[in-house]
Amino acid sequence: MNIEWFVNGAGAVLLLYILYRITLVLFNILGPYVFFRPIDLKKKAGASWAVVTGATDGIGKSYCFELARRGFNIYLVSRTESKLVQTKKDILAKHPNVQIRYATFDFTNPSPTDYQELLSQLNEVNIGILINNVGMFFEYPDYIHQMGGGLERLADVAIVNMLPPTLLSAGILPQMIRRKAGVIVNISSATGAFKMAQWSVYSASKKYVSWLTATLRKEYGDKGILFQTITPFIVATKMAGNPNTSFFYPDSDTFAKSALNTIGNSNDTTGYIAHQLQYEMMNLMPEFLFDRAVLKTSAELKQRALKNREEKSLP
Ligand SMILES: NC(=O)c1ccc[n+]([C@@H]2O[C@H](COP(=O)([O-])OP(=O)(O)OC[C@H]3O[C@@H](n4cnc5c(N)ncnc54)[C@H](OP(=O)(O)O)[C@@H]3O)[C@@H](O)[C@H]2O)c1
Repeated sequence: MNIEWFVNGAGAVLLLYILYRITLVLFNILGPYVFFRPIDLKKKAGASWAVVTGATDGIGKSYCFELARRGFNIYLVSRTESKLVQTKKDILAKHPNVQIRYATFDFTNPSPTDYQELLSQLNEVNIGILINNVGMFFEYPDYIHQMGGGLERLADVAIVNMLPPTLLSAGILPQMIRRKAGVIVNISSATGAFKMAQWSVYSASKKYVSWLTATLRKEYGDKGILFQTITPFIVATKMAGNPNTSFFYPDSDTFAKSALNTIGNSNDTTGYIAHQLQYEMMNLMPEFLFDRAVLKTSAELKQRALKNREEKSLP
């Protein structure tokens, strides 16, 4: 009798747990991407300027266009001045009613003094949104001791992925706190959500971004400031090797528009419905199968990158 009671109880708990997991998965996929309406971003931001790092290409550039379309003035921050000038021109051609400023900064530079100078420029305007987007990857995944670019590249990837969200958030938060409003979006990566062999420094630095965002949310959530982590899978950009777009590989414009619509509706999400589907599926995968899949994909990416390099070097 007791055993029967125990088995029935355990079965009920298991069933409830499975139902809870299914509901959570469906909520994560459908909530921010199908059911919830985008929030009033201007009201949440509380000021008219948006700062975007890594603003001259890929996801960052697409965030700039989408934010300009929504009426925000844009402060572009990136390393190549000619690309900043061109991006400014391109945005103004499409959205002549917004203001655009830019600052040149190479984020491989870890100097707090140079950051201070950059922050002085940025803090001249009222910043409602900060998109910490700039990031760096390797030419292809590999074992850490033989990573292409050696120690210098390992250091650059760690610095570019971790320092900007840390120092720019710290330097811009004071004006947001004064206004009791503001939005900080930190672009992490799905690789930060899983322990991925051969993606070590990139994966770990993106985990840092997610963790930092979550802790800052606890510090400033009650001060009117919204912190969001975005953890994309593959978006068809230069960093991803410009693959053809598909259901799972959106172009950066489609991605940025979708991700911006999730602000205020999800604190931590992939940014795109197909990526959320991927995330939920991977999360359910047994770790040994996941590890095998990662190693296989990493080997394929390495092979493809080396082949591309060889083709480029042919006369
Ligand atoms: N694409 C993906 O599949 C994917 C997936 C997950 C996460 N992410 C993350 O999304 C973010 C954007 O990636 P993306 O694919 O859009 O990259 P991208 O197409 O390569 O664009 C990177 C942007 O950052 C700038 N940048 C690069 N290194 C810089 C540096 N040291 N200093 C200043 N600016 C620098 C680039 O400027 P220049 O043009 O002058 O180099 C460019 O504007 C990154 O944080 C990345 O880790 C991307």
